[in-house]
Amino acid sequence: MTLITLRQALDRAREGGYGIGAFNVTDIAQVEAVLDAARLTGSPVIVQTIAGASVFASDELYWDLIMRTVDHYSDVPVVVHLDHGPDAETCFRAIDAGFSSVMIDGSLDPETHEPNTFEQNVAVTLKVVEYARERGVSVEGELGTIGGSKDGSTHAAIVLADPAEAGEFVARTGVDALAVAIGTSHGAYKFSSPPDDSVLHMDLITEIAETIPGTHLVMHGSSSLPADLRDTINAHGGELPESWGVPEDEKVRSTKLGVTKINQGMDSHMAFMAAQRTVLDADRITVDPAVAAKAGRQGMSDLIAERMRIFGQAGRTADYTPVPFREPAAL
Ligand code: 13P
Repeated sequence: MTLITLRQALDRAREGGYGIGAFNVTDIAQVEAVLDAARLTGSPVIVQTIAGASVFASDELYWDLIMRTVDHYSDVPVVVHLDHGPDAETCFRAIDAGFSSVMIDGSLDPETHEPNTFEQNVAVTLKVVEYARERGVSVEGELGTIGGSKDGSTHAAIVLADPAEAGEFVARTGVDALAVAIGTSHGAYKFSSPPDDSVLHMDLITEIAETIPGTHLVMHGSSSLPADLRDTINAHGGELPESWGVPEDEKVRSTKLGVTKINQGMDSHMAFMAAQRTVLDADRITVDPAVAAKAGRQGMSDLIAERMRIFGQAGRTADYTPVPFREPAAL
C-alpha cells in the first residue's frame, strides 16, 4: 500500500503546479473505479467518503474494505480521506480505521445544521487536529458554508468564506487544508445558468491564499454536471433538470490561484448511473446486479481518468516514491 497523507499529496501538487481530484465513493466498485483511473493515468489520488453515505450498513466494515482495496494498488499513491466529518468522534473513528486524512466540518452544527460560530468551529477543529497530529494524519477544516441540495427543492445557504478569518482560523487550529466557500455548492443542482464571477468568487481564492500561504485550499462542489451525462440518464428514465456546475477551465484556473484539492462526487456518480441505466435499458431481463455495476464502474473510471488529465495529476506518481505514511514530515 502506498498510503500518503493529504499534506504530503498537496505539498507535492503545489510544487508541481497541479491539482489533485478528491473523488467521493459510496461502494467498493467505485473505489476500484477511482484507483483504476489513477493506475491508468499514473496519478496520485484522493479517495474520499462521507460517514453513513455508502451502500454498507456499517462504516467500519466499509472503511476496512476501502483500506484493503487500496492495498491492491501498491503502485498508486493514495490518500484515504473522510469527507465532511460532522463531529470529532466521527473523525476519530476514521483515523482509527486507518484513514490518512480527515475533514472536520465545523462550519455547521451537526444536529441543527445551522451555522456554528467561529469559536465553535475553532474548538471542534482543534480537537480533531490534536488527535490526528499524534497519529500522523492530516486534517481539512471548513470556513464559510458550502451550500447544496439533494433534490433541487431546497438549497442550504452558501455563506462565503471571510479572508480575514482564514488567518486566525489556521493560526489557532493548524489545519493542513481549508475548504473555502467561494460560491460553489454540493449536488446535482447548482447554477441555473453558466456561472460567472457574480456567483463563482474566484477572487476569494487569491485573497485567502495570500493570507494563509502554508495551508492548502480545497474547492468543494466542483462537479461540472456534464450535459451529455444528464441527457443519457434522462434518455433512460431519469428526470434530472437542467443545471450548470463548475466548468473544467475554472477548476484548472483555481489550481493556478491556490487550490490544490478539487472535490467532486456528482460527476463521477452521474457517469456511473448513466452507464448503469444504459445497460439496464438495453437488457431488460437481466437480474444480475453485477452486469449494471460493472458498466457503472467502467463509466465512472473513464470520466475520472479524463479529469485526472485535466487537473494535471496524470503522470505524476513519480513525485511520491517513496513516501511512507507517517514519516515525520507528515506531522
Ligand atoms: P459535488 O457535489 O459538486 O460533486 O462536490 C462534492 C464535494 O464537494 C464533496 O465534498
